[in-house]
Amino acid sequence: MSSNTNTSLVLSERPSGPIVKGKTFSLKSSPAPTEADLQDGQVLLETLYISFDPAMRGWLDDRRSYIPPVQINEVMRALTVSRVIASKSAKFTVGTIVTSASGIQDLAIMPDSQVEKAYDLPQGGKLTDLLGVLGSTGLTAFFGMTKIGQPKAGDTVVVSAAAGATGSVAAQIAKIAGARVIGIAGGPQKCQWLKEELGLDEALDYKAADFRQKFKEATPKFVDVYFDNVGGEILDLAMARAAQFSRFVMCGGISQYNSAEKKGPGASFFNVITQRIKMQGFIVFDYINEYDSARKQLAQWLAEGKMKRKETIVKGGVRNAEEAFDWLFTGKNTGKLMVEVKAENEGARL
Ligand SMILES: NC(=O)c1ccc[n+]([C@@H]2O[C@H](COP(=O)([O-])OP(=O)(O)OC[C@H]3O[C@@H](n4cnc5c(N)ncnc54)[C@H](OP(=O)(O)O)[C@@H]3O)[C@@H](O)[C@H]2O)c1
Repeated sequence: MSSNTNTSLVLSERPSGPIVKGKTFSLKSSPAPTEADLQDGQVLLETLYISFDPAMRGWLDDRRSYIPPVQINEVMRALTVSRVIASKSAKFTVGTIVTSASGIQDLAIMPDSQVEKAYDLPQGGKLTDLLGVLGSTGLTAFFGMTKIGQPKAGDTVVVSAAAGATGSVAAQIAKIAGARVIGIAGGPQKCQWLKEELGLDEALDYKAADFRQKFKEATPKFVDVYFDNVGGEILDLAMARAAQFSRFVMCGGISQYNSAEKKGPGASFFNVITQRIKMQGFIVFDYINEYDSARKQLAQWLAEGKMKRKETIVKGGVRNAEEAFDWLFTGKNTGKLMVEVKAENEGARL
């Protein structure tokens, strides 16, 4: 990024399936906004890190959802950690680190009502935790697991996409609650991380030929809590193995986000009745009034070493952001995926 240019990634065409590199988005260069462009109550932000979330694929579809779709020619929406580099707001001084949905761009002008001062990092915390454990994915895991899953000692808890940002936190929360936790992830390396580093009881590779058999063997007492990040066939299998009065936390369905024809559970769906499954979807914003207390708990676990995390950082800034979408859907990330635009200590434009 040159200091007088703002590079952004804008939506050029809605994809019908996967995001197509060079077609769905285009890079745009425009004059860098300056302090002179600010109106009262606005701040100028310099992006440090951009969060990459599977939900971003959903934001490209023009259909009813929990948030309006990104419009053609609009900068792609994304959660960010940024630094205030100019301010006409009484709330934020220059140099403050903030989080917001300022999008995939180097610089952004935002109203102060849509910007949040960064949460105070705990001991051992990193700036990037603001998008991971202490950000949207950590909060999603926290509320999904504690409010809906409600695991207790002795329960069998299964988490899909368990080596991802949300899944890894959800699985560890269930372990802290005393449950027997089974993580599902793609490939032996991720499974090894789940067992050896996160201390899960079992880790199953859904890409292995014997996955269905292994799932069955790992759940002799069936599944009390299933935290679903992927939908599709794995959800179907979890429903087939549901225990009586089990709780199904419907968090996401990444296996279906790129498919024009979405597949759901088959005959196993009747287990909702026969096994009295309580199945509930949620969006993290539902719990916005409880973010502070949840962050406090997550920060404490992080400081105590009870919550471990990994992050996958794509370098190269906005110009490489398109690549990051592919990483999410091919599973190249372990833990939180983000794009580094400017590291915190990299000479700020003050
Ligand atoms: N409800 C909410 O408010 C909310 C908020 C945040 C996130 N979410 C949802 O939570 C889920 C996880 O999001 P995240 O941000 O934490 O992403 P993530 O888990 O860090 O990354 C996505 C992971 O999904 C796995 N994956 C990709 N394609 C798959 C497929 N076909 N089948 C099975 N697994 C597949 C990949 O891991 P493998 O290598 O293991 O395949 C990949 O690493 C998503 O479904 C997302 O939409 C919901």
